[in-house]
Amino acid sequence: MDNKKYSRKEFISFLGKVSLGVLAVPPFLTGCGSLTTPINTEYLSKRQLKKLKNLVLEGLKPSDKDSLELTKGLNYHIIIRWGDKISDRDTFGFNNDFTCFIPLDENNPKDGLLWVNHEYIHPLFVSAYDKKLHKEKTKEQVDKEMYNVGGSIIRIKEQDGKWTVVENDSHNRRITGHTEIQLNWDTQIKGKSTVIGTNSNCSGGITPWKTFLTCEENYDSFFGETTYDENNQPITSKGYHGWEKFYPYPTEHYGWVVEIDPKDGTAQKHIALGRFAHECCTLFQLEDKRVVAYTGDDKNDEHLYKFVGAIPNSLKEGTLYVADTVKGKWLALDWESQPVLKNKFRDQTEVLIRAREAAKLLGATKLNRPEDIEIDPITGNILVSLTNNIPKGDYHGSILKIEETSGAFDSLSFKASTFIAGGEENSFSCPDNLAFDLSGNLWITSDMSGNKMNKEGSPYLPFKNNSLFVIPRYGEDAGKVIRVASAPRDAELTGPWFSPDGKTLFLSVQHPGEQTIDLNAPTSRWPFEADNMPKPAVVAITGDLIEKMNKLNQIEMIEAKD
Ligand code: FEO
Ligand code: CA
Ligand code: CA
Ligand code: CA
Repeated sequence: MDNKKYSRKEFISFLGKVSLGVLAVPPFLTGCGSLTTPINTEYLSKRQLKKLKNLVLEGLKPSDKDSLELTKGLNYHIIIRWGDKISDRDTFGFNNDFTCFIPLDENNPKDGLLWVNHEYIHPLFVSAYDKKLHKEKTKEQVDKEMYNVGGSIIRIKEQDGKWTVVENDSHNRRITGHTEIQLNWDTQIKGKSTVIGTNSNCSGGITPWKTFLTCEENYDSFFGETTYDENNQPITSKGYHGWEKFYPYPTEHYGWVVEIDPKDGTAQKHIALGRFAHECCTLFQLEDKRVVAYTGDDKNDEHLYKFVGAIPNSLKEGTLYVADTVKGKWLALDWESQPVLKNKFRDQTEVLIRAREAAKLLGATKLNRPEDIEIDPITGNILVSLTNNIPKGDYHGSILKIEETSGAFDSLSFKASTFIAGGEENSFSCPDNLAFDLSGNLWITSDMSGNKMNKEGSPYLPFKNNSLFVIPRYGEDAGKVIRVASAPRDAELTGPWFSPDGKTLFLSVQHPGEQTIDLNAPTSRWPFEADNMPKPAVVAITGDLIEKMNKLNQIEMIEAKD
């Protein structure tokens, strides 16, 4: 059905990423299968071909330096770092991850609200809790830790090429481990319809109605997890950080997709999207305004899910599916219609809370840690980072490509294949965050774990520090993986997000110096400020290279329209 089919125009305008003048789809791109098939240059004019040839990127070599290294044509400045004041009340949280920028006025790409996830904490830095001393953590320490997770909303503006925080802007606020959050569900969970706090906010997404989505990933490390034995009896484990000692909140209140209204910070948890270690949540709006949401469970051998709304603009009324990538089928996590779920669970709420078990009962495919998901704005294919699965011998991961049948995002069948594999031959390992720029170039960050990087005998040794890569869509480098940034020591580059004019890449530098066990000898000093201590920070990456890559696209689009 036409109204369900993918429309690039609709998708791009939903992202708010390009101005109306460049919405036309160049004919040579509509037929292009994927990034692995470089564009057919016989359709290009001589002028276009010359431009393609001119765009040659100089990649960086792997580096183990304690600095944020950028390739030629890129530069950066810090927008905000951990502990910076955002208002008279609040400071910026720890371990910034996902970023998402929404302009306050669609006609001004240089002034808007930046959402930033604060995924987790390093107790030594945040609460001065030192595990080595074997002391009990105090309530004051737990409170500090809870304050430093969640997210920040900050108003930022660009002037003369530099983004700065508008201090004390009325939008600036923190969402933390203590914030009250409503459940978007009719049944209470563990007796509550409002719960306390969000944590483990890894990656996220944006809704068509311009709100932020922040995803609760490794929630079990804070309040523990509840699993079930063979007699279906619950067993609750403790969290690594031990917050439950002072705040015995039910484990079932965490592990959800959370929506944040940028205007007032109102938050709600979307139960219909299931409960697991959500990495991200990537939305597409169908022509009839129903929403499709892709979200993965970042744990070894867990699954990929898709929610399909039943009514317009709802993340509550609809069906959650899980992927069988072998048969190419979306399987409904629906208590009413699936006898195998009816046998095991009390009701649909329990199916959603115990989504991992329900998915396995339906025969979902075990995947190698699904991380970020992006929809290719040119082909409509869905790309999913599968970061690694070390127990299974997959050290370097891959990117999975999902092609929905007939390009319909609400299709119940699809084709799955490997888009690109990690490993030395492709220069990257452990893909994590993904972002497409305005031209459809694909940007990828890597997440090799800090205790395995730069270690003799480790499979990650050749890759050195975590990095940011781009796979250009056009030109001589099309399809190649090019390293464009290298992170400081122990850090991971996360949360890539382009400004609406495509000229700035917002990027988080997360957990520099994470391997530190003694504050007198931190393993990183980035960003080399007065106190000489490592600090997570959000940077703005700008420069000729980003501008050129986007400009090329606009020229091509305008020419194609003529
Ligand atoms: Fe928080 Fe799956 O990375
Ligand atoms: Ca991640
Ligand atoms: Ca992304
Ligand atoms: Ca990761």
